[in-house]
Amino acid sequence: MNAKRFQQILIGVLSFVAVVSTVLLFQTRSAMSSKPECPACPEQAPAVQIPASRCDAGGPGANDALAVIHARTSVRAYKDQPVSLDQVEKMLKAGMAAPTAGNRQPWYFVATTDRAVMDKLAEANEHGAMLKSAGAAIVVVGSPPEGLRGESGEMWVQDCAAATQNILLAATAQGLGAVWIGIHPVTDRVAAVRNILEIPQDKTPFSIVSIGWPEGTPTPKDKFKPEKVFNGKWGTAFEFSKPAATPPDAIDAPAVQAPEPAPAADETGTVPVPPPDAAPAAEPAAVKPPAPVIPGLPADTMPRAAAEAAPEQPAPTQN
Ligand SMILES: Cc1cc2nc3c(=O)[nH]c(=O)nc-3n(C[C@H](O)[C@H](O)[C@H](O)COP(=O)(O)O)c2cc1C
Repeated sequence: MNAKRFQQILIGVLSFVAVVSTVLLFQTRSAMSSKPECPACPEQAPAVQIPASRCDAGGPGANDALAVIHARTSVRAYKDQPVSLDQVEKMLKAGMAAPTAGNRQPWYFVATTDRAVMDKLAEANEHGAMLKSAGAAIVVVGSPPEGLRGESGEMWVQDCAAATQNILLAATAQGLGAVWIGIHPVTDRVAAVRNILEIPQDKTPFSIVSIGWPEGTPTPKDKFKPEKVFNGKWGTAFEFSKPAATPPDAIDAPAVQAPEPAPAADETGTVPVPPPDAAPAAEPAAVKPPAPVIPGLPADTMPRAAAEAAPEQPAPTQN
């Protein structure tokens, strides 16, 4: 090999090394700047990064918050299949990630997969029969003295509601089915749950989330009603850019689906649960997180100006 040939090879090798180093350096820098700390989170990291130690994202569809929100539905029929402790922990952590007034976190949770305990809770509540076939139950317990009170009202109620909803969403994200069983403010239900779980007097059982593997394939109800949304002030219609996921052959049909026949609700808005052997009601049963049935997706269609002009929420009132 003559000197010129050697020089050519050397230049080639050095060029190759330079190109590879540049590419690697660029990849590392872009990964550092845009990749979330949590490897399970999507490439397009949210503005707020979740420390990897606290991130429970993962599993099919779990990263798509809107899909999970729209996939959630009350599920009251479950397979005879256990709910794992890991799943329960994820739901508890999701519950405690909810917002609370003044960041007081005035809540406690009683979680159980104990058949006998869930049976007792089912028997103590005429609207909680589904607990008989549940694989797990999480009781959200409020602590009124720890919550924001006074002029602000009894904020612990909203705090516990937010936690309950987060638990429902975490169940959905894991492919589980769940339903919110209302306890507070129905005094006999509060007393019954307090008694069964030995909850002290200064704490108030707020809700029970009944959880299990869905029996069948439940479909979320379409509750999107554009006529309930106003633009800027009460009475001015808000025009959604995508009113509904209307099939082409139903274009002339009313934009809003007729409400499903509602089962008789009691004074708290809860509906009675059909006996386990009854034919499934219009109520859906299960959820497939990766491909939820999403009847309408209003969230990404709301113009920013209208969102900012949305009327202020009424001040919370005493419960
Ligand atoms: C405060 C509250 C209390 C509820 N209590 C019960 C209950 O005791 N039993 C029940 O089967 N469902 C109960 N539900 C579930 C509702 O019936 C259900 O959310 C409603 O029918 C709408 O259906 P969806 O959850 O599938 O959208 C409750 C829901 C809320 C928000």
